Amino acid sequence: MILVGELSDLPPGESVRVQGEVPIAVFNVDGELYAIDDTCTHQDASLSDGWLEGCAVECPLHATCFDLRTGRPSGPPAKKPVRTHAVSVDGGLIHVHESAPVGTTPAIAEEVG
Ligand code: FES
Repeated sequence: MILVGELSDLPPGESVRVQGEVPIAVFNVDGELYAIDDTCTHQDASLSDGWLEGCAVECPLHATCFDLRTGRPSGPPAKKPVRTHAVSVDGGLIHVHESAPVGTTPAIAEEVG
């Protein structure tokens, strides 16, 4: 569990980067908190520096949007999802519960259709 900080320091529309096993970005979307791996799966860009658009963040380098609920990219150039992490608030403090490292969980199934 990673301490992010006080909820009052992360108002709606803002993001913060914290260090887990890898950097993690935490977002406040209208009072709902989301956490994803901070590094874009395309190249070395920090998603916490991106732009929030509803429940997605746009990568600041090449504009792929990542859904904060699923980690899935909207389209190229990024093709792989980022990991998502659970977030909890207790006593006004935000914590991130880091997901298993990449490669230790089953891959997300490709959509068939
Ligand atoms: S670095 Fe994020 S889309 Fe290219």
